[in-house]
Amino acid sequence: MPAAFRAQCVAVGSALPERRLTNADLERMVETNDEWIVSRTGIRERRIAEPGTGLSALALPAARQCLERAGVSADTLDGIIVATISGDHVMPTTANLLQHQLGASKAFAYDLLNACNGFVAALSTAAAFIESGHAKRMLVVGGDIMSTLIDYRDRNTCILFGDGCGAVLVEAGPADGPGIIGFELHSDGAGAADLSIPCSGSAEIPTPEALARGDQFVKQNGRTVFTAAVRRMSEVCVSLLGRLSLTKADIDLLVPHQANLRIIEPTATRLGVPMDKVVVNIERVANTTAGTIPLALADAFADGRLKNGSRVLLVAFGGGLTWGALYLTWGRA
Ligand code: COA
Repeated sequence: MPAAFRAQCVAVGSALPERRLTNADLERMVETNDEWIVSRTGIRERRIAEPGTGLSALALPAARQCLERAGVSADTLDGIIVATISGDHVMPTTANLLQHQLGASKAFAYDLLNACNGFVAALSTAAAFIESGHAKRMLVVGGDIMSTLIDYRDRNTCILFGDGCGAVLVEAGPADGPGIIGFELHSDGAGAADLSIPCSGSAEIPTPEALARGDQFVKQNGRTVFTAAVRRMSEVCVSLLGRLSLTKADIDLLVPHQANLRIIEPTATRLGVPMDKVVVNIERVANTTAGTIPLALADAFADGRLKNGSRVLLVAFGGGLTWGALYLTWGRA
């Protein structure tokens, strides 16, 4: 049965911590150098929150900016989903804290854990709520305080990540109007060990030995993750476009997860999308996990590239392993 509504993406907001951690700063912390980091990743600096900052401290201004741009008040929200792997707490969820702080009195709220694919998964979930008539207006937030999950003694990971958060407002609109046209989500738990935080749940408790090993921090098999990301990101885009009978001519903006410029460029090349249609902000904000895509959307909105009617392809890949793509036309009917 065709959906009665389409999920319109009507506004975006974002928030970054003030403090910049540059490659020169990292040179003083681990054995690395600016030339290596820029040539291998494209990253020049990342933003880092002050210790003790919960994700809600970024989610709140991002959400407020988003709602203000949309011209709607928080008490009209039906639901809030926060995609993150570094929420304020496991319980209560960051979405619950945000719901209260925003005054979103009638909204249900929960966090969604899907690592770097979290925002695409959360936006897909919101689309399903709206298309099925279960919600009319939802706030989808993606963000992480990765600095709490990174070992700043490990040069393999500490150069890659930063902190940041973004939010997109999704509303029910006419089924033949603009909005989320389609999405595709995938997982492969066989690659779980390639990108993980071993001591982050019930399987491994934070004993002094585990903490001394640094098991509370991100561990990755960088090369394997790199190869899988390039393959999976282009694969899922090709599959989604094919299913929707679309081609590269239907893409005004490609908004990829910002993990490494050397992952973004081959993804664009394989899709035949020129780099001037690709939103890249990795040099300034690095990999903010669930935050990368809404932050990139916010940048594209700020520089005028994201506007009413823009045809946008989102794509992400991350720990799990998990990946997905989502195609939308931006703005209200
Ligand atoms: N500075 C200097 N040298 C470094 C370094 C750093 N920060 N980090 C690693 N190196 C060294 C390695 O130790 C290795 O040295 P060796 O050959 O003596 O062992 C050398 O540089 C090459 O490492 P390699 O892993 O082959 O580099 P790479 O070209 O694969 O780039 C990554 C490394 C991590 C940048 C890359 O693999 C990557 O981006 N992977 C994906 C990671 C990711 O995005 N994770 C999150 C996904 S959502």
